Amino acid sequence: MHIVVVGLSHRTAPVEVREKLSIPDHSISESLKSLKSFADILEVSILSTCNRLEIYSLVKDKNIGISSVKEFISEFSKINIEELDPHLFDLRQEEAVLHLMKVSAGLDSLVLGEGQILSQVKKMMRLGQENQSTGPILNRLLSQSISVGKKVRSETNLGTGAVSISSAAVELAQLKIGQDIGLNSLVTLESERVLIVGAGRMSRLLITHLKSKGCHKLLLINRNIERAKNLAADFTDIEIECKQFSDLYENINKFSLVFTSTASEKPFIDLERVKKINLKNNIKFFDIGVPRNVTSDVSQHELVDSFDVDDLQEVVSRNQEFREKIAKEAESLVKEERIIFLEWWASLEAVPVINKLRSDLEIIRKEELQKALSRMGPDFSARERKVVDALTKGIINKILHTPVTKLRSPQSRDERRASLKIVEKLFSLADDEDI
Ligand SMILES: NC(=O)c1ccc[n+]([C@@H]2O[C@H](COP(=O)([O-])OP(=O)(O)OC[C@H]3O[C@@H](n4cnc5c(N)ncnc54)[C@H](OP(=O)(O)O)[C@@H]3O)[C@@H](O)[C@H]2O)c1
Repeated sequence: MHIVVVGLSHRTAPVEVREKLSIPDHSISESLKSLKSFADILEVSILSTCNRLEIYSLVKDKNIGISSVKEFISEFSKINIEELDPHLFDLRQEEAVLHLMKVSAGLDSLVLGEGQILSQVKKMMRLGQENQSTGPILNRLLSQSISVGKKVRSETNLGTGAVSISSAAVELAQLKIGQDIGLNSLVTLESERVLIVGAGRMSRLLITHLKSKGCHKLLLINRNIERAKNLAADFTDIEIECKQFSDLYENINKFSLVFTSTASEKPFIDLERVKKINLKNNIKFFDIGVPRNVTSDVSQHELVDSFDVDDLQEVVSRNQEFREKIAKEAESLVKEERIIFLEWWASLEAVPVINKLRSDLEIIRKEELQKALSRMGPDFSARERKVVDALTKGIINKILHTPVTKLRSPQSRDERRASLKIVEKLFSLADDEDI
């Protein structure tokens, strides 16, 4: 059995490809079912975020398993494999394990150390368990990757500074406004008229960062107005007006900065729409939605500048040097955890032999106990029988403790296999078909 991951990320594919491959929440169950229907896939789990689609599987054969996952991705996205292949990556075994741990720690994120990815890995694990597509191996890998993610953030400075895609989008806005007036630095947003479309997690972070960069007033538009009002109520020292999604188009031209962060599967702002708006002032769109909420053609309008998640690279590289230093520290923690996981997995090889040994000894124990008890006759009380039963169990467990611990302990695969062979031979376990 092998662990493999097939996928694509901001490192291998631009947003226009990633958005076609994003699997929305409502399609995850169905997708897990399709993946499980491949004979070679034993366990599977999907990580679908704005920056990546990664499918982790436990497979019988690495090459067949990887082809099956690619076939699924191609069918799901309706893009043929030849077209997809240049954007896909695949990793096997140790590399796949290390990759998931790094992803969870935020070491593979566009914004190094961002925290949202950890909750997305948690969600990936929950969905795998709810849909029974994961089993003992992937569950263990996922839960250990989540622990690594937490550990890296608590034991290094990687997570400090509340970094996120939203904070990068706000920084990009500061940078672009500065560049308009000939500065290459981050300027205050005090005098900007700000609109946010969407009232989810990313919008919450947008408001937090906008506020810290001088913004004191904004309009929040959302499909569900109650959700927008609830979000606004959580912020006291910034004035937030809330409106329905249907009010969007008639309001856009009042703003200089428009942040879009909805989970809409289709864009709702395009060039045609912008032309109808009758703009009078310059407007900048910062779209962190994937799939995108704003089509790239809007920049053709002379009053419009438009940026998507891939454009965040410009601000990300400004802060990266410091973070990369801390990331090195975090990487050694991740590598240690990879070894722990792989050792645990290798130790599972001993389980069938240990189980067989235990069950053979249990048969002997029961037979011998029965013989002894029948020799004792009826005078032996129920309490005394219980004591003798516990005594024999205790002896077996004590005898087994040391060899079982040794068989499970970290060691090379060859060493473990040699020990297992000796145990099988000495106790005649290998004749049985179950071994
Ligand atoms: N979470 C991250 O780490 C992260 C990072 C970067 C980018 N993103 C991207 O940012 C976007 C928002 O993510 P999130 O985590 O904030 O999501 P979220 O918490 O689930 O919120 C989703 C938001 O999208 C709105 N929405 C959903 N479908 C819509 C539609 N058809 N038309 C208009 N509005 C719609 C929802 O409105 P209602 O309240 O009316 O349902 C809600 O405001 C997504 O595209 C995501 O891929 C997320």
